[in-house]
Amino acid sequence: MILIDGKKAAAELRAELKQEVTELKGKYNKVPGLTVILIGDLTPSQIYVRNKEKSATEVGLKSEVIRYPDSVEEKTVLEKIKELNIDETVSGILVQLPLPKHIDKKKVIEAIDPSKDVDGFHPMNVGNLSSGYESSVPCTPLGCYLLIKKIEPNLNGKKAVMIGRSNLNGKPMTQLLLKENCTVTITHSKTKDLKAECLEADIIIAAVGIPELVRGDWVKKDTIVIDVGINKTDNGIVGDVHFDEVSKNAKALTPVPGGVGPMTIACLLKNTIECFKRSQI
Ligand code: GUN
Repeated sequence: MILIDGKKAAAELRAELKQEVTELKGKYNKVPGLTVILIGDLTPSQIYVRNKEKSATEVGLKSEVIRYPDSVEEKTVLEKIKELNIDETVSGILVQLPLPKHIDKKKVIEAIDPSKDVDGFHPMNVGNLSSGYESSVPCTPLGCYLLIKKIEPNLNGKKAVMIGRSNLNGKPMTQLLLKENCTVTITHSKTKDLKAECLEADIIIAAVGIPELVRGDWVKKDTIVIDVGINKTDNGIVGDVHFDEVSKNAKALTPVPGGVGPMTIACLLKNTIECFKRSQI
């Protein structure tokens, strides 16, 4: 079994991006900038944002975090986004989710200029991705995709089973796999026989938030399994895949932690650089 080392893959990607930033600096005499807006003090969000800031600085990006208390008014956030949209030193804008209840997520996402939407959540980018046009691609599925391609560069005709249908992961992941000519099945909580679907799969991507849902006898021996889950349990953090069981059967598997997570952040940096490059044309 191949243990897919997301930490190593992310470090390699960051090294490439660092090199690219140096070249861009030479060419344009400026560097891409990432601005993150963080509202409230949820611990996971604080940790994510700290890691994003650290990685962005490490590859040479201009990195800024704007923090607001939980009580901030929606219009203050929308006005700040407007300001960032026209700020030439800002290539990418990310508003960390989840947001407090009184702030409308849809309004916030739609306020971001699609050309600076490094999350790829704006409906314009969602549409562009599904139409096969140039777009920002959400960071987590992009990271999963790059890990899969490292194991299997030719995905032509492969059967992929996506577990989960979220806007963040399931739906954009499906688009990336379709572009690679996979036959994609999207499964979710109402799917009748998930085990039977998984047993057909050459590739399984689990992103549902159910601890250790995918068991050893759900997986054929040649299957690549990507675990997007991060679930807090009494036994610590586990993924959506039963690691011990599935690692005995699968061809390749991502661990949790150390699989998809590090790639997500590296892909955010990649998206920021892509937005910068498109803005220079
Ligand atoms: N919160 C958890 N994951 C993400 C993500 O990919 N983007 C944003 N903006 N917030 C998140």
